[in-house]
Parts: sequence; C-alpha cells; structure tokens
Amino acid sequence: MSSFLFVTDLDHTLVGDYKALEKLNHELEQHRKDYGTKIVYATGRSLTLYKELIAEQPLLTPDALITSVGTEIYFDSQEYTPDSEWSEKLSDGWNRNLIVEIATAFPELVPQKESEQRPFKVSYLISEENSIKVLPQLKSQLESKSLKFNLIYSGGKDLDILSLYADKGLAVKFLQYKWEINSATTVVCGDSGNDIALFSAGEERGIIVGNARPELLEWYKANSTDYRYLAKSSYANGILEGLRHFNFI
Ligand code: GLC
Ligand code: MG
Repeated sequence: MSSFLFVTDLDHTLVGDYKALEKLNHELEQHRKDYGTKIVYATGRSLTLYKELIAEQPLLTPDALITSVGTEIYFDSQEYTPDSEWSEKLSDGWNRNLIVEIATAFPELVPQKESEQRPFKVSYLISEENSIKVLPQLKSQLESKSLKFNLIYSGGKDLDILSLYADKGLAVKFLQYKWEINSATTVVCGDSGNDIALFSAGEERGIIVGNARPELLEWYKANSTDYRYLAKSSYANGILEGLRHFNFI
C-alpha cells in the first residue's frame, strides 16, 4: 500500500448512503495517517452550501476543497478567500457582466440562488426539454461576442457558465502540479455531468458510482478505457468497490 490522491464529488457520490460513508471515512482516515494519502472534495456547491452539508453529514476535513465546479480552491475551509494563485489563472478573458447580460435575454434560464453566483461562475436552472433548444442558441450568442467560457449542464437541471480555465478536472491538475502527484496515483469519483471534467482531464483512475446519472453513463460508454471503472454499488459503497478494483486500498 502507498499514498494516493483521492478526489471525490460530494452530492450523490460520496454522500447518499450514511453508513457506507462512515465506513469509507474510516478507511480513508486510516490511509491518510499511515501513508499520507490526500483527500480532496470537488463539488458544485459554493463554500456556503458546503458548510450546510458538513453540518448534516460526517465528512472528514479535506486536504483541499474545490468548490463551485472547480472555480475556487481552498486549502483551509475556515478561510473565506479562495487560493489567489488559482483565481488569477481564471480571470484571463472572463467577462462576467457580458455573459449575464446575454443569458438574461433567455426567459427559460432561471438564475440559481445568490450564494451560487460566484466570481468565475454564473448558474441557472433550466429543464432538460428547454435545454435542447436554448443551450445551442446561448452558446452561439456567447461565441459571437468572442467570449471565453466553459458551459456545463448537469443533473438535467443545472447550467453553469464558468471561466474557460476552470472545471473540476483543471482544478485537480493544479493540485497535482502543486503536490507533485501523477495521474496513476490519483483517483477521481463522480456521478453526474459536472464530473465528466474529472474523468476527462487525463489518465486519472476514475470511479463512476453505480447510481450515476444518464449523462455520465453515456459519456462513460463512449469513452471506456481500463483506467475508468463503473461500480456496481452506489454512493460511498461504489467508491469502496472502485478503490479495491484499482488496488488503492
Ligand atoms: C451544485 C451547485 C450549483 C451547480 C450544480 C451543478 O448544486 O450548488 O450551483 O449548478 O452543483 O454543477
Ligand atoms: Mg454529484
């Protein structure tokens, strides 16, 4: 056994089965103590909503926290300002005001709550049915203004417009570089659309939990390789199954 970088999404991946989460926590905490394994959460939630989750669920203190779909990184979640080195990278070509102005013209796009509107992330709710028509139109309007952005649709309802240089996978790459950890000793876990970036960033070992959403399952089928594993079990049990499959634990 040796150390690895463990990265996981929270909602419907790590969190969803309380008992399984406690079991996985125990294994990971022990591994961190014995081998120096690093634990990272990569969530769509803002720091505000992350704090609501930790009040309800027994989450371990991570070595780094990636929030707001990769647009913010915290090394200490008690801090209120995200890592400035990361933020600086994201500001290149980012014109938040113009993006909001263009998006506001689409009545089908309903802004998410204020806590989820972040410096490098603008988020809306839109039904799957409306998304088929609206997203291509939105994209071409943003492109026609030469804007740089990263558009991510997840869970059949959430639309995130991010800085071109941010997503969960790019944030993991930043941490790997900082900590000198390679893809073969990194494992990433997820269940939905905004996790595709985790799996596609490179050759990280990937665990797709058994309860994954159709958008991720479709992507997995089209991009299957031996370093991505679709678990039979759900939530934290799926993660445990995958960690054993790759011999990390
Ligand atoms: C989380 C965030 C939300 C985002 C969604 C999908 O629910 O709170 O803002 O749109 O993840 O990435
Ligand atoms: Mg999720």
